[in-house]
Amino acid sequence: MAYKADKENVVTTTKLVEMKQKGVKIAAATAYDAPTAKLLNEAGVDVVLVGDSVGMVKLGYESTLPVTLDEILHHVKAAKRGNSRALLVADMPYLSYELDVKEAVRNAGRLVKEGGAQAVKLEGGLEIAPVIKELLKVNIPVMGHLGLTPQAVNRLGGFKVQGRKPQDAEKILTDAKILEGTGIFSLVLECVPTGLAREITRKLTVPTIGIGAGAHCDGQVLVSDDLWGMGEGPALKFVKRYAELRPQMLKAAQAYCGEVKSGAFPSSEHEFSDAPKPDRLSA
Ligand code: KIV
Repeated sequence: MAYKADKENVVTTTKLVEMKQKGVKIAAATAYDAPTAKLLNEAGVDVVLVGDSVGMVKLGYESTLPVTLDEILHHVKAAKRGNSRALLVADMPYLSYELDVKEAVRNAGRLVKEGGAQAVKLEGGLEIAPVIKELLKVNIPVMGHLGLTPQAVNRLGGFKVQGRKPQDAEKILTDAKILEGTGIFSLVLECVPTGLAREITRKLTVPTIGIGAGAHCDGQVLVSDDLWGMGEGPALKFVKRYAELRPQMLKAAQAYCGEVKSGAFPSSEHEFSDAPKPDRLSA
């Protein structure tokens, strides 16, 4: 048997830890389909996350809670087809890992074996440590997620900044250390105060990846539709829009509708003539 030569620059879980040691920032973003994953790889993103945010961003749910394992798996398979260099991480959806450790391993195994994910992300602290240990036993690397954990939105009373009260900050810090002790390779910190994220980042040897957690994290993650400005209304405080695609897409769709109704589209340049010519569809 021969191993394929290691592809240069491919991002692995161990490389992410090395990046922290070297002070190289980690860029992560979500993708739910092949062309988006391909584009993010081309842009140099280190981690492609197939987040359960797909439920709110693409599937029209009001929270991430309804997302099923099969839905995530479908999107992981698609993202995998477009992924090349980045580490492909799949979110484990709500109730796919909390109830039974064996079931959690089976579900994560499907994301890796059928979907091609290289790691999974789980929300929570101390309470999910036994699951993480079992996943590591079958060689599935785990990314943690603390702070605003959207799967706990009902218990948290909404999508709110977490860790502002000293006892809440202490709990998040304690959970971060427990997760690191359990063997996670990185930790997402969502919507926590900058000072808390800085302290956690300083105290952990694995990289922190922030979203709404300030500049001191070892990396950042954004929902790609947010960074492209594809959402309706103003951006959330922690989102930076690097483009304003939604207004442009709307304008283009309106222009298309107008031209179809007026008969301006298709014009002769988009038609096939009767004259004998190659049968190619391209322009
Ligand atoms: O589901 C998701 O996209 C996430 C990121 C926002 C971290 O968990």
